[in-house]
Amino acid sequence: MAFVPVTVSRPQVLPPLFTSRRLYVHIFLLLIIVLILVVVRFMSHVRLTFVHYHMESDTDAELVTLPKSFAREKGAFCLDGSPPAYYYRPSPIISSNLWIIYLPGGGWCVSEEDCFQRSLTSLGSSHVAPTSLSMDGFLSKNCNNNPDFCWWNVLIFHYCDGGSFLGNQSHNVDFKSRSLYMRGGRIFEALIEYLMSTTGLKDAEQIILSGTSAGGIGALIHTDLLRSRLPPSVKTLHVLVDGAMFVDVPDVDGQRSMAKMLSSFYHLHSVKDATSIQECTRTMKKEDTWRCLLPQVYQSFVFTPAFFIQSIYDTWQRTNVLKVPCFAVTCPEAHLDEVYKARDAVQSMAQQIMTSRKNGVFLTVCPAHTILIRPYFYKKEVGNPTIQKSLSSWLQHSEVQTHVDVNLPLEAAVEMCQTA
Ligand SMILES: *[C@@H]1O[C@H](CO)[C@@H](O)[C@H](O)[C@H]1NC(C)=O
Repeated sequence: MAFVPVTVSRPQVLPPLFTSRRLYVHIFLLLIIVLILVVVRFMSHVRLTFVHYHMESDTDAELVTLPKSFAREKGAFCLDGSPPAYYYRPSPIISSNLWIIYLPGGGWCVSEEDCFQRSLTSLGSSHVAPTSLSMDGFLSKNCNNNPDFCWWNVLIFHYCDGGSFLGNQSHNVDFKSRSLYMRGGRIFEALIEYLMSTTGLKDAEQIILSGTSAGGIGALIHTDLLRSRLPPSVKTLHVLVDGAMFVDVPDVDGQRSMAKMLSSFYHLHSVKDATSIQECTRTMKKEDTWRCLLPQVYQSFVFTPAFFIQSIYDTWQRTNVLKVPCFAVTCPEAHLDEVYKARDAVQSMAQQIMTSRKNGVFLTVCPAHTILIRPYFYKKEVGNPTIQKSLSSWLQHSEVQTHVDVNLPLEAAVEMCQTA
């Protein structure tokens, strides 16, 4: 029997092109592709929206942390030992020589425990600082709202020392397994030196040093020192002090809370060793040297033209200095006396500041604490120019005092400001 290989022709197994099952698969794939296209289209639309939003928003000042070696060399540290930092938003105009330096507020730490707690937050560290900032008012880059300053270079110093950028405590304080540094004065100096060597600040023609609340005190006290560090090419230096007309008036229990707060922070942070304040402290009796922190006292030592912005009904001072339990903008009748005493103290401070013709004061009756970098900056108040306008004309002509009716009772003031 011969073995004959046979070729059996294999049956056609290729299926027809379109079975109904195949059809479904194709439609499904087609749908997926359409879906992908739609998603891609949508995402690029979203991205564009974000780009526009980003361009129009003020989230534009970016964080820069000083090199550790530089911080160590200067002995300049945030409370937690991290290096100082600043935010920078360059002018949209290349090689602009207009510069704003801004010191933010944020109160003070007045005890070791207090500073320890703060060292765990962004107010005491550059490690946990936000990487960019959103700015409004005087620092807005929106030229519709902020026509005078929208094209300035902006530097915002990160507030992380808890002592108005003034401390110069030579030893670190060991507290609860942490080393705390109270060296705000060194931070200020280190930042200036670093910026002078790394940015266009050295070519500046006009500089505005500004500060809010605790930062306002720092700006006022450091301004002449800054002047001494600037090259002769700088034509003008002005200082703006916002919401920092702190008054030393008794609280509802007759305690001097402001005095207590300022003197505690003065001693804890060894502010007496800050070069900038010594202009004033050397004229004082030892036990009174902390009083140099009061703008009312320090302002007479300031050579730089200064502009003060203040509400005569400062909401922070009402709560923290007068200890009046105000609700929103209104305060209990029983404590209006204290509120008016503080108002009168602000008013007489304003008069004192204005005895120097280089200075300017903008007072508002609208209850607020800090105004400079709020949208309020452009808001028109009944019978008054906006702060934006007053500031602009002061910078140009150096002669401005706003006349507010300081005798306007609180209730009337509140009403007026709500309808403004
Ligand atoms: C801090 O104190 C030291 C020593 O007294 C002094 O040399 C230095 O200039 C001071 N720094 C500041 C920022 O005041």
